[in-house]
Amino acid sequence: MTVDITLKQTLDKSYTITIDTLPELHFDTKVAIVTNPTISKLHLDYLLERLSAKEVHIITIPDGEQYKNWETIEQILGEMFEHRFNRKSMLIAFGGGVIGDMTGFTASIYQRGIDFIQIPTTLLSQVDASVGGKTGINNAYGKNLIGAFHQPQAVYADPYFLTTLPEREFAAGVAEIIKMAVIFDADFFHFLEDADLEDAAQLKEVIAKSVKTKAWVVAQDEKERGIRAALNYGHTFGHVIENETRYKTYLHGEAVAIGMVMANNTAAALGLMSDAECLRIKNLLERFGLPTHYDIADVEIFYETFYLDKKSSDQSITFILPKHIGDVEMTDTVDAALVKSVLMRYSGA
Ligand SMILES: NC(=O)c1ccc[n+]([C@@H]2O[C@H](COP(=O)([O-])OP(=O)(O)OC[C@H]3O[C@@H](n4cnc5c(N)ncnc54)[C@H](O)[C@@H]3O)[C@@H](O)[C@H]2O)c1
Ligand SMILES: [Zn+2]
Repeated sequence: MTVDITLKQTLDKSYTITIDTLPELHFDTKVAIVTNPTISKLHLDYLLERLSAKEVHIITIPDGEQYKNWETIEQILGEMFEHRFNRKSMLIAFGGGVIGDMTGFTASIYQRGIDFIQIPTTLLSQVDASVGGKTGINNAYGKNLIGAFHQPQAVYADPYFLTTLPEREFAAGVAEIIKMAVIFDADFFHFLEDADLEDAAQLKEVIAKSVKTKAWVVAQDEKERGIRAALNYGHTFGHVIENETRYKTYLHGEAVAIGMVMANNTAAALGLMSDAECLRIKNLLERFGLPTHYDIADVEIFYETFYLDKKSSDQSITFILPKHIGDVEMTDTVDAALVKSVLMRYSGA
């Protein structure tokens, strides 16, 4: 005997991303702001001045990627139960990508899923992490291996928050912006070559342009079965660098910057991209103070580490390689010997 369950839902998960001064926000429900001590000290008053709700609770979690784990999720869930949150209650992620990923994940599992809002406070989270509904945590087996797709109700990216961001963190966000330009938009790349991101109007324009690009990708491929994977340009190499340096030496965006240069070199070695375009990308990364070189201790070990990346299947490694500025191709048939010959250029040996 069989029983069929027909579940053909067409769910509208659309939402708006506002890139502007934070507006007045009002909720008829209980809300909890999830944040950390660094951000609350700098910006919580600014948020509270603009927020009203039936009840407002603050859930403060420790600052750092090392706390992006189950224990912290348990802490957030525990405080939500203590405050008797129900399925109509709402979470607000107030911080960088770490806060956003964990708040979104908690919202996806609390009583089988409640709404949440993103108020990203780092450049990286404004242009990247807060857009697209990927949420999750790390565990002993790797980064972001546990999680859910759970789209927010709204995103409010207020560039004002970035005025307190440390320079390196700012540059790490720029790396992801340059990444999007190289993958999808040559005009945007040219704009960045002349942009002054200390100018508030230009910064806002750049954030908006990046968000639009990512939103366009996510709208076509929410679950990363196709084009969304192109956003991993620079990440195949970058993840190995992060892994080898135990996440201590480079911020994620910095490792991605080096990874993009390595991907470009691979593309050039395959005859896909010109050396002149490779140089333009490297120059732009360096203009924003991003690293573009990494000493590879052992090319064989570096290559083997590609296989740990969850985006590669067991047999093949997927590379995202630019053809031109503004156009990439995804390929899992790059000859290992060719990649290793490119990697040799980074090894002192
Ligand atoms: N979900 C996605 O699609 C996606 C995409 C990219 C990255 N991520 C995740 O995002 C995380 C990285 O995010 P991140 O780069 O924002 O790092 P982060 O959240 O760790 O923030 C970086 C540091 O800046 C501090 N900070 C935040 N806002 C500040 C401000 N306005 N002024 C001063 N300091 C401030 C934070 O407390 C932290 O110490 C990673 O865990 C990564 O996996 C997720
Ligand atoms: Zn990234």
